[in-house]
Amino acid sequence: MLYQENPQNLKRTPYYIYHKDILCQTLETLLQSLPPDRKYVVHYAVKANDNIEVLKCIASYGLGADCVSGGEIEKALKAGFEAGKIAYAGVGKRDDEIELAVEKQIFCLNAESEQEIDVISEIAGKIGLTAPVAIRINPNIDAHTHKNITTGTEENKFGIPIDEAVRVAQRIINDPHLRFIGVHFHIGSQITQYSPFIELCNTANKLRQEFADRNIKLGMIDMGGGLGIDYENPEKNTIPDFSGYFSTFANHTSKDIELHFELGRSIVAQMGELITRVLFTKTTPHKYFAIVDAGFTDLIRPALYGAYHKIVNLSSEERTLGKCDIVGPICESSDVFAKDREIPLPQRGDILAIRSAGAYGEVMASTYNARPLIKGYME
Ligand code: LLP
Repeated sequence: MLYQENPQNLKRTPYYIYHKDILCQTLETLLQSLPPDRKYVVHYAVKANDNIEVLKCIASYGLGADCVSGGEIEKALKAGFEAGKIAYAGVGKRDDEIELAVEKQIFCLNAESEQEIDVISEIAGKIGLTAPVAIRINPNIDAHTHKNITTGTEENKFGIPIDEAVRVAQRIINDPHLRFIGVHFHIGSQITQYSPFIELCNTANKLRQEFADRNIKLGMIDMGGGLGIDYENPEKNTIPDFSGYFSTFANHTSKDIELHFELGRSIVAQMGELITRVLFTKTTPHKYFAIVDAGFTDLIRPALYGAYHKIVNLSSEERTLGKCDIVGPICESSDVFAKDREIPLPQRGDILAIRSAGAYGEVMASTYNARPLIKGYME
């Protein structure tokens, strides 16, 4: 079960551990939470964690995949996701990536500019296939999350402005090399209130009406991802509130529209933890530092977004509690996992678990400071 990593049994730290039982439980709950009277399709956002074992497990539940590069499309196919359930988004798709998507006959390409649509058409024409295209719309909705993970406001580079949606759809419909699938939104990530999703439903409904007024039928609306998780209490809230999430959409859209979702974090975050060893401790007049062998090269979220991750001392839950800065070995002051964190005071050799690290952890790792890429194990 979760959080029972045996300190005697460790692999070479640092590493990620992915708990398969948690992942399976999360996927089962997700599928059970889908409203039975609606046509809802869930794509797993591969960018959250593309570890092959993780992908294989998710694919085995029949989910689709949401990819943002040719590399992700190839990985998703290799893991067993059906081509016909792969959506491909991304503001900058290379020609060879578009070619791959068209040739593999994926579900749809979410186009983010008119120039991109021209290129998709040209490539599809050359290949002799019709490319399925949805328009990514920038709905100008503030998701009230961290500014680096807000994607749906006018300030962001993503999507086509909503006022241009109808004209761009007409352009796709009139193109013999393209098939118009619908529209796509994604307003941001780690969204913990439902109000931005309600706002998104209202925007989508209005747009759908505008399309209907011009006799354009939307085959589907892709609402993107963004459902947040509880980083503070991962043991208590291991499985996100999928039924609250899907019923928010069901309560604010009509029954006859097919909705797609692209969930990443909510599916994989809580099944993963980063296991790291305390290399040294250091006391200064101001601080108690625990210097661990993982750094922001292994988990960048705290350094990049100031993100909170719960940290547990697996070697001793009993030791005296104390305030401690848990820092990595990288030569940058931002290499800090936690500041003034109350924890059983770590000592050299202790093993710490950084929780809720299954999403945007291993995938964002780098080799800065010539550090080897960290491994992820599924257990
Ligand atoms: N669809 C699109 C078009 C996206 O851009 C994203 C995430 C998702 C779906 C999945 O969103 P999720 O369900 O995971 O919230 N590295 C950041 C998160 C970046 C999210 C980027 N886009 C972090 O560590 O918090």
